[in-house]
Amino acid sequence: PNEPPMVFHWFPIIGSTITYGIDPPRWFKQQREKYGDIFTFVLLGKKTTVYLGPAGNEFILNGKIKDVSAEEIYTVLTTPVFGKDVVYDCPNSKLMEQKKFMKIALSTAAFQRYVPIITAEVDDYFKRSADFKGKSGIVNIPKSMAELTIFTASHTLQGSEVRSKFDEKVAALYHDLDMGFSPINFALYWAPLPWNARRDHAQRTVAKIYMDVIKQRRAAGATETEDMMWHLMNSTYKNGTPVPDHEVAHMLIALLMAGQHSSSSTSSWICLWLAARPDVMEALYQEQIEVLGADLPPLTYENLQKLSLNQAVLKETLRLHAPIHSIMRAVKSPMPVPNTRYVIPTNHTLLAASGVSASDPKYFPEPDLWEPTRWDKDSPIAPSSAIQASGEDEEKIDYGYGLVSKGANSPYLPFGAGRHRCIGEQFAGVQLQTITAMLVRKFKFSNPDGTTGKVIGTDYQSLFSRPLEPANIRWEKRDE
Ligand code: HEM
Repeated sequence: PNEPPMVFHWFPIIGSTITYGIDPPRWFKQQREKYGDIFTFVLLGKKTTVYLGPAGNEFILNGKIKDVSAEEIYTVLTTPVFGKDVVYDCPNSKLMEQKKFMKIALSTAAFQRYVPIITAEVDDYFKRSADFKGKSGIVNIPKSMAELTIFTASHTLQGSEVRSKFDEKVAALYHDLDMGFSPINFALYWAPLPWNARRDHAQRTVAKIYMDVIKQRRAAGATETEDMMWHLMNSTYKNGTPVPDHEVAHMLIALLMAGQHSSSSTSSWICLWLAARPDVMEALYQEQIEVLGADLPPLTYENLQKLSLNQAVLKETLRLHAPIHSIMRAVKSPMPVPNTRYVIPTNHTLLAASGVSASDPKYFPEPDLWEPTRWDKDSPIAPSSAIQASGEDEEKIDYGYGLVSKGANSPYLPFGAGRHRCIGEQFAGVQLQTITAMLVRKFKFSNPDGTTGKVIGTDYQSLFSRPLEPANIRWEKRDE
């Protein structure tokens, strides 16, 4: 009656789960041809309403708290992995406070400290990695980027005590935690299966490692650097309760997991595109020489802000490869869709996919072209003026964790929008721009088969999309 059109399917329960799951963005575009921007499909037995385009992003990501819930969807996956009483295992108002605590620690002063830590980790990694011995070679880049991301993220976000424990054993525990994020767990999170038992064991073990460090720090009388753990340990909820140790530990796990997948898949895509576009990798090298000087001084937070092509590489990579391809919300009260006759009932799930509009020719000329210079104002393929205009002068709003853009009516939202918006954007920017700038100094990349302009396809099997593997690139050291 007043519901959006239903995508045709043969089987109940399964519905379109399989065809959706193979390549969600492509499948969404196919359905849009038939049904328009709003349609419903059956995902694991659940009626799921997709609303594409900027208006859909606004409708879902800026949905009111009485209308939409993220925790109701995500808690079955995230609570066993992160632990209790944080993120989606608490009321939204508590999450907003937790995001504020985390965001305060992600300050400019912190980023200024992080850049040398990250550069040192990158240097060290390429010195010791067996995959980068000699003058040139071929490597499956996602594996290297996953390692590099976890070393840089744990060192910066969790401090040197935790980083020093980040040996094979803890890496293996994080792998077990990761398995909790397979989409199959939306259905089987509770099941007494071996990987769920390993997930639960890993959660307890990792949380204990953090809680032991917290105890040591409290005993030592805390003259620590003001890192993430320090900030969380010393935060107090509005009702006067200090954040308990187990919540500090669980937030640290949540931060590492959130940052790990999105950042490591993004740095892999950056490497793959630089291999596919050696001209851009060379231009990045020349940018550093021109802007920072031929002696290439150590990178600093301030220097990174001056490398505009280096920044555009990240922006353009996130346009084509937003790691979170589907953002979901439970519907809490019937939601009329503005300017349509549709009402979304409470037994539906809503799904936003801003990656679809980020590769729509309506907003991005030649959308499939990875071309960082398109973000220059006078590029012939610059994004439509609506996107360029949004920025500094935008209206802002505070959901409790700091100011964010009020509108979500944009085709380019790799970090989401509204009360659930990412707090890690600046951190990810610092981490990924530092890694990119370091790679450019050290290497020349190319495709192993000598082709240019093309990269491998995307693996959508996990909650976070990433390159299909093996995703090989050829590397050659610059200086030897
Ligand atoms: C939320 C993307 C890195 C922490 C989000 C959301 C997106 C996103 C799309 C919204 C999810 C939703 O509405 O359901 C990304 C991308 C990243 C990145 C593309 C890197 C390229 C990070 C990092 C951290 C982080 C490094 C931690 C330091 C968070 C947190 C939330 C969030 C805490 C809030 C979840 C909520 O309020 O429900 N991110 N993220 N992210 N992200 Fe990120």
